Parts: sequence; C-alpha cells; structure tokens
Amino acid sequence: MNVYDSERIAAILKNMGYKAADDVRDADLILFNTCHIREKAAEKLFSDLGRIEIIKNERAERGLETIIGVVGCVVQAENEQIAKRAPYVNFATGPLTYYRIPEILQRIANEKNICIIDTDFPAESKFDHLPQNDHTGGCAYLAIQEGCNNFCTYCIVPYTRGVETSRPIEDILHEARNLVNNGVLEINLLGQNVNSFHGEDKNGREQNLAYLLNKMAEIEGLQRLRYTTSYPADMNDELIKCHHDIEKLMPYLHLPLQSGSDKILKAMNRRHTSGQYLEIVEKLKEANPNIGMSSDFIVGFPGETDADFQATMDMVQKVNFIQAFSFKYSRRAGTPAAVYPNQVEEKVKKERLEILQNELFSRQLNFNKGCVGKIMPILFESKGRKKGEIFGRSPYMQTVIVKSGTENINRIKNVKITSGGMNALCGEL
Ligand code: 5AD
Ligand code: SF4
Repeated sequence: MNVYDSERIAAILKNMGYKAADDVRDADLILFNTCHIREKAAEKLFSDLGRIEIIKNERAERGLETIIGVVGCVVQAENEQIAKRAPYVNFATGPLTYYRIPEILQRIANEKNICIIDTDFPAESKFDHLPQNDHTGGCAYLAIQEGCNNFCTYCIVPYTRGVETSRPIEDILHEARNLVNNGVLEINLLGQNVNSFHGEDKNGREQNLAYLLNKMAEIEGLQRLRYTTSYPADMNDELIKCHHDIEKLMPYLHLPLQSGSDKILKAMNRRHTSGQYLEIVEKLKEANPNIGMSSDFIVGFPGETDADFQATMDMVQKVNFIQAFSFKYSRRAGTPAAVYPNQVEEKVKKERLEILQNELFSRQLNFNKGCVGKIMPILFESKGRKKGEIFGRSPYMQTVIVKSGTENINRIKNVKITSGGMNALCGEL
C-alpha cells in the first residue's frame, strides 16, 4: 500500500512541476513515506531523518533551502514525537490526507518557518483529489479499499488508516482501464482488508470483491489479476469460486493466519479458528488445485506457550505454505495487546522466529526446486543485476531471472525453469 501511495504522491508532485532528483543532495524537497506496523519500521524513520538533517544543513551552507516532509502511518501515531525528535521537519501528513500536499507546500512557501502537522481523518476520499494514476509498465497496484474495522488486538492499522472504506466500482474500473492503456498487464488490487470490499456500483448498489474481480477480468488487454491482503473470515464462497472461474486470477493467495493456536487467535481477536482456515484452504484447492498459499505469522504474542507455538508449526506443515512473512510480536502503544500482562520474553520470541523461519524457508525452497523443468509464464519487470539479464514474476510471485535483452521487459513470456533457490529461480526463454 505504501508503494502505491508513494506513486500517487510522486504524481501529485510531478503535476506541480517537481522532477525526481538523482541524488538526495540535489533535492529541494525530501519526503518520507512511513510504516508504523512494527516498532522497527517506525524507528527507521527517525534514523533516516537524522541523516537527512545533515544534508539539510549542508545544503543551507550552499544557500539552498530544503523542505522535509513525512507522510504515512507514523505521522498518524507519532506526530508529537516527530515534532520533538526532528524539529527540522517542515510538514507531516497522514496516509489519508497526502492529497493536501500542494496546499501544504503553498503555505510553507508563503509563511516560511512553519511546521504543518495534519493528522485529520477527512470525511472526503483522497481518491477524489488525486491526479490520474499514470503508472506505466508491466504490473501495477490499485488501491480499492483502505482502513480496517477488525481491530486485531496487536494491530495499529485501524488507528492509523482509520475505518474501512471502499472505493466506488466505476472509479476503480476507470483507473484500471487507464493503467491497461498505459501498457499495464497485471493489476494487484490492494486493501488492508481487501476481501471485505463493498464498493458501490453505478446504480448505488453495494457489490463485493467477487463482483469487482469479474468486472476487472472483462478488461481487454489486462492479463493478470491479484488481490492483497485478505482476512480469512471474509473468504466467502463467491470469492473462492473466482479462483475457479477467472483465468486471469493468479493461482496464488496471501491469506494471513498469524497463529495456529485457537487460544491465541481468540486473544488476537481474529474471527476465525485454525480449523476454519484449513476449510478455506481446502475449498480454494478444490476451486483451483494449482493454488499456492502464502501467509503472515506473529510469534511471541502475549500468552503464547510452547504448545501454542507448536500449533503454528503444525499449521505450517498442514497447509504447506509456498511463501510467508513472519514477525516477532511488537508492542504498539494504544493497541489492547500492548498492555496484556503475559508478554513473552524477547529471547523466546527470537528462538521461535528462527524455528518458524527455518521451516517456512525450507518449504519455500522445496517449492521453488519443484518448479525446475516446468514452463511458466513470466511477466518481466526490469533489468537484472547482471548485464544481459532481466527478471520478472511467475504466477506465484517468484522472482525469475533469464538471459535476455530489455525488449522483453513489460511482456509475458514462457520460460523453462532451470534452477531454483530460496529467493529466485533461473530459466531460459
Ligand atoms: N507485531 C508484529 N507483527 C505485526 N503485524 C501487524 N501488527 C504486528 C505487531 N504488532 C503483522 C501481521 C500482519 C502483517 C502486515 O504485519 O502479521 O498480517
Ligand atoms: Fe490489522 Fe489486518 Fe487485523 Fe485489520 S485485519 S486489524 S489490518 S492485522
């Protein structure tokens, strides 16, 4: 979602006449788009700001003014900290209000030496104020839903991105058609809780994600569709059926489980059990036997015992995830779990994370090795690190590297996979 927001912010600035600087030392405006999901992500902002202050001072010695702005969820949660720890920041605005950047920059130009902090949850939708999404090239993100009403007890998102809102279907289809006209072949529909999407159609009727996916699939020229991130309890039968009916929908689903223990899921306020999760996976596999599952896990949630952690390991074995993200539980101020009394020791979290990741990574490697010899359609995105190589993505989001000139970038080509490592596959056109 932050990549998408950053693209939209870049488009706002381009409209105002800004150009991207090759070197940060040449930048008149430096913007940070930030994440507050875990402490590590938030702390990164403050260490980056420290570096940038030095650059701002160096530029001042050369007689150059530098405006520093912070955007995103850290602003929503820690605006006072930003003003205190980094007083040289000129403005800070949350993830729902960045469309106001032109106004903010205008005020800074007029009034000088002011610090503007905007943490509003506006009644209006930012999407109504943004310039057209001008992303070009192979794959694009498209935000269709934002915010979350689930209030998982560990999660800061409902407090930073606000309550769940869905964009109107016609606006989404308009943005999608534009993207396809720009040469986009794959669209990844985004939302914090994307599968509870309930946008209005042109007759003012609320429609669900299954309806939208079917509409999207009708767009000529669009070759691939994905949606991220889903909540297990919202995986209804109609949506599961899309994985059977819609050929453009890639056979890969990121469906966070968080924990395999029903006791911990309950304490997390997740509205599903591990058994229900397995049922959903079964149904998805019935709909499309080729589907590969991906997930998010948290280890060391307050009260997690060895037996609870073992239940997570059991689920990893049962579902056989082909890819997953895993994290140590991070206390987020203002969330219920942050003050639960039974916090897990850091040492235990670290050990559990290592055990879980070893298992997840070895399954990922196995899956990747299993692809050797197969022919897969790869959407090429960019030049590779080595000269004469390009890389792209498989239907399962694996990175695939081949020897080729740049003429195949932004195209889908069949590739025979010749080797498979943990992080990437190699192949031949
Ligand atoms: N601590 C650790 N991981 C978290 N996530 C969300 N909040 C926290 C937290 N407080 C993880 C969840 C979520 C992913 C985006 O980040 O696994 O699915
Ligand atoms: Fe956070 Fe996702 Fe839970 Fe919403 S569903 S509260 S975004 S973890």
